[in-house]
Amino acid sequence: ATKTLTRRSQTRRGASVVVYASQDDGFKVAVLGAAGGIGQSLSLLLKMNPMISELALYDVGQIVKGVAVDLSHCNTASTVNGFCGNEELGEALKGCDLVIIPAGVPRKPGMTRDDLFSINAGIVRDLTQGVADHCPNAVVAIISNPVNSTVPIACEVMKQNGKFDKRKILGVTTLDIVRSDEFVSTLKGLDVNDVDVPVIGGHAGITILPLLSQTFPQTSFSEKETEDLTIRIQNAGTEVVEAKAGGGSATLSMAYAAARMGEAILRGLSGESDVYECSYVSSDIVPDMPFFATKCKLGKEGVEEVSPIGDITAYEQEWLDKLKPELKAQIDKGISFIADAP
Ligand code: NAD
Ligand code: LMR
Repeated sequence: ATKTLTRRSQTRRGASVVVYASQDDGFKVAVLGAAGGIGQSLSLLLKMNPMISELALYDVGQIVKGVAVDLSHCNTASTVNGFCGNEELGEALKGCDLVIIPAGVPRKPGMTRDDLFSINAGIVRDLTQGVADHCPNAVVAIISNPVNSTVPIACEVMKQNGKFDKRKILGVTTLDIVRSDEFVSTLKGLDVNDVDVPVIGGHAGITILPLLSQTFPQTSFSEKETEDLTIRIQNAGTEVVEAKAGGGSATLSMAYAAARMGEAILRGLSGESDVYECSYVSSDIVPDMPFFATKCKLGKEGVEEVSPIGDITAYEQEWLDKLKPELKAQIDKGISFIADAP
């Protein structure tokens, strides 16, 4: 059921804060993989979100119960409960409006995101089966890599269960937008709060395509700036993996990005209009590409509209032509993991 939330301002201990008054109890959100590097930070940020009344933290690691107790001491509106292991997955998912999935192994230096497929594909398959069984109407936001393949996997699982609704399954590419906005505003001396760079395609290597020509506010870049920024945005995940030197991949910036995406989804579900974020979804916006990231309008049922790519430069078109076969192969790999399973 969708919930109607009205925004109002309140002054509390001298500070002006925004709160959401709900007609009922607010949203239930589950984080699957909540004990991990992304999961813990994301859960903290969600605990601070006044639109959420119930947080369910799920993991296969027993520490998730302690993480939930720890967070439950924060004096914010939501309740927090921890759930561990498959036998508790149903209880975690029951009644969820939004399920965010950062479960799975991260990269080490020298690995591609596709190298994670052998472990993470099965994890996302099994967790999505849980969604199909216990909260088929929830919006599902998938962080687990390789996103280009795990989102098709989740969609196939929902199809096999007769529960597929393409408006409800999203791949989280928000970190690409967060990075682009940050890198561009720093380079150009702009206020980072004003900058918006759409990033389309997928979420791995050259499938990540920032549309610098569509930067808001309108900004001009030299050829070298365009080339350097494009390559840096495509490799930003690897930049973090190498800096962490075997200790994992982006967790804090990812949690920040997922909290932003989660809030956008909830604002859409609550009936707010004009909520837009780029996301990797099932669409027919690009011929022969059954999944593609582009700007999406978020509404009461999830993804309400998928925007076309719009006008792009010859440079961006070259990248688009190059990324399509790679992205298509990663999509097909995900689909056949479920469709061709014995
Ligand atoms: P992590 O190892 O710190 O945490 C992963 C957590 O998942 C662990 O707590 C683990 O116990 C849990 N887990 C494993 N199998 C599970 C299962 N079946 N059910 C529930 N929980 C399970 O890893 P991390 O740094 O948090 O990264 C998680 C994933 O997110 C990785 O695949 C990584 O590549 C991906 N990631 C994606 C983006 C993106 O932009 N989409 C950004 C950063 C990381
Ligand atoms: C990222 O972009 O930081 C994530 O996809 C994690 C990774 O492996 O790079």
